[in-house]
Amino acid sequence: MRVLVVGSGGREHALCWALSASPLLTKLWCAPGNPGTASCAENVAIPAMDVAALVRFAGENAVDLVMPGPEGPLAAGLADALGLEGIRCCGPSAAAARLESSKSFTKEICDAAAIPTALWERFSDPHAARAFVRKRGAPIVIKADGLADGKGVVVATSVAEAEDAIAAFMEHGRFGASGSNIVIEECLFGDEISFFALCDGTSAISLGAAQDHKRVGECDTGPNTGGMGAYSPPAAFTPALERIAMERIIAPTLAEMSRQGMPFRGILFAGLMLTEQGPKLIEFNVRFGDPECQVLMLRLRSDLLAALIAACDGELARFDLQWNPGAALAVVMAARGYPDAPETGSVIGGIAAAAAVVGAHLFQAGTSLRDGTIVAVGGRVLSVCGTGPDLQVAHDAAYAAVDALDWPGGFCRRDIGARALA
Ligand code: AMP
Ligand code: GLY
Repeated sequence: MRVLVVGSGGREHALCWALSASPLLTKLWCAPGNPGTASCAENVAIPAMDVAALVRFAGENAVDLVMPGPEGPLAAGLADALGLEGIRCCGPSAAAARLESSKSFTKEICDAAAIPTALWERFSDPHAARAFVRKRGAPIVIKADGLADGKGVVVATSVAEAEDAIAAFMEHGRFGASGSNIVIEECLFGDEISFFALCDGTSAISLGAAQDHKRVGECDTGPNTGGMGAYSPPAAFTPALERIAMERIIAPTLAEMSRQGMPFRGILFAGLMLTEQGPKLIEFNVRFGDPECQVLMLRLRSDLLAALIAACDGELARFDLQWNPGAALAVVMAARGYPDAPETGSVIGGIAAAAAVVGAHLFQAGTSLRDGTIVAVGGRVLSVCGTGPDLQVAHDAAYAAVDALDWPGGFCRRDIGARALA
């Protein structure tokens, strides 16, 4: 099998790493990749958003399967364009990718299929939105309807904060067109986890769950980020809750998407709140999470490639995944200044020493190779991971590797997994 992974983050490095272990694999490319993916795949200098060039490359190189990391190329029609060429893509059509790109689309699917989620209402008029917020009171959640780089959500603890968010999204154009429509939601309470299902349009199998750490600062303070760390499995998400999430959230979503003529194929990422009434859907993404993917790939024992092919070929119903016992934990190291203004160009030393720590695995993201040294070129730069028989061992391995790095220009949270370990 000839496989092309699309993207350049830690998630894509982890995907390349897992795919490169497959006995089915004959050739692996990553577009555009990073110095980490270069160790297990051949990097191709095509930007992840250049759908036409990706499709051309896949056709010219007889690629059997394209695995997109980020949602952008899917929303731009990568799976549709590959489908026209008869090339497998383990990701949804642009129409089905609206499960991530449009909050109101997802909410309408939830309503149609009776999927447990926060009560919601959609607004295109800021005055009506303000009146609604004043009537409902706080806490209340304000969301830009379109894609906003993960920053389009304000969990407002006061009515004033909610009104500020409405003004910023709808009147001051903070997210351009993505914010001209908003969704206002009831605030849910509980543990939040990231749950992943591999879907073939009709059937789905669990790809496991992870706990993300979204805020930049320790004790969940500071602005939201793409994710500063993750661990898996999260103890709060018991096998019983996983079954409920598959039955009440994933399966009805697939059925409704099929019924509406846009079957969902690929990775369905459900952000779940484990409320007292059971798991409720916060949001869908149509891809793996980053850094959740890194910890899931470290835990997966089965052949990832065989599973992705089964998803593309509609053969998941008789598929089963095996997992390594124990736990995995990822600490994201970011460049100083992230998420607002990450500094670029700092030299990262000690990568070999960190990778040599027992149980440690390094995945690269915003790195570049300059004159034989690795330098930081992005916000999130490294995922420093640990595995072990339990979460404590995984945690200790990851932080021992962090401490083996020599990178004054980088930082990480020191409390990844701390709540679960306490
Ligand atoms: P989203 O971009 O939809 O993932 O939202 C970002 C974050 O806002 C989520 O990870 C949650 O922590 C929080 N959030 C979103 N919706 C709700 C809700 N209805 N109740 C409580 N928290 C929420
Ligand atoms: N870590 C969350 C995400 O990838 O969206």
